Amino acid sequence: MPKKVYKVGPDTFRTDEARLQRALARYHEGKGLIGGDPRRRPRWIHPLPPEPAPAFRLMQSSPEHLARLRRFLSEAPLEIEIGSGPGDFILDWAQKHPHRHFLAFEVKWKLVREMVQRIEALGIGNLWVSDDDARFDLPRLLQPNSVDVFHILFPDPWWKPKHQARRLFVPPFVDVLALLLKPGGILRVATDVPGYAQVIQEVVEAHPDFLPSQPDLAQRFAQAAPTSRQAFCDEIGRPYTYFYFQKRPAASETGHG
Ligand SMILES: C[S@@+](CC[C@H](N)C(=O)[O-])C[C@H]1O[C@@H](n2cnc3c(N)ncnc32)[C@H](O)[C@@H]1O
Repeated sequence: MPKKVYKVGPDTFRTDEARLQRALARYHEGKGLIGGDPRRRPRWIHPLPPEPAPAFRLMQSSPEHLARLRRFLSEAPLEIEIGSGPGDFILDWAQKHPHRHFLAFEVKWKLVREMVQRIEALGIGNLWVSDDDARFDLPRLLQPNSVDVFHILFPDPWWKPKHQARRLFVPPFVDVLALLLKPGGILRVATDVPGYAQVIQEVVEAHPDFLPSQPDLAQRFAQAAPTSRQAFCDEIGRPYTYFYFQKRPAASETGHG
């Protein structure tokens, strides 16, 4: 595969608070969705591999295909990656955990198409992918308390003020993650942008459902392959941070209720 050339962003990480707040006020109307409103996306542009390939678009796949997807999502413990890039981590992780089910979102349709080719060539039966904006699909597709792990690895920092509404670590999307995770479920995050690391930690730890990051949880993911951005950082010696935020276990699991 051709080597991806990554950029190292500016040294300072800023947020235009007033602009971000204006965008977040319209968050649930889909303000800032990547690729625009999926309800208006022409279906003939960049078609996905034909069904029943394990790829979908929530607004375009057939009802039968979406029924297959929903069954798949409910049949086994579920892990979801948002922004999988070329899929180096999730393709490997899915093969290492054949009894779990995986879903990966990546808005770049070319990468999704290539991922489907690799899923089929490797005979992976427990991974579906989508090129929808995960922020549109997740609340429409999944039941509360249904996800075991979210992986958000090296998310785009969206430096430009006009794009910052696309950041995944903003309070309304952290609410969605908290709602969908099972009690005790894990939000696993990595970033090599120090200013974004600070924002991520603040916004997640401010949420009443999340516990502060627990570095010990890293052991559970010791066998995880690096993502392509992580491999790039390792190659150039750029530091990065991993966070492991757990959703508070249900009261009965803590022995307090
Ligand atoms: C910096 S790249 C990191 C890719 C990969 N996780 C890695 O570490 O190599 C972030 C990726 O997230 C994707 N992305 C950003 N926002 C997204 C969203 N809302 N839904 C799905 N994919 C998204 C981008 O297209 C991009 O490929």
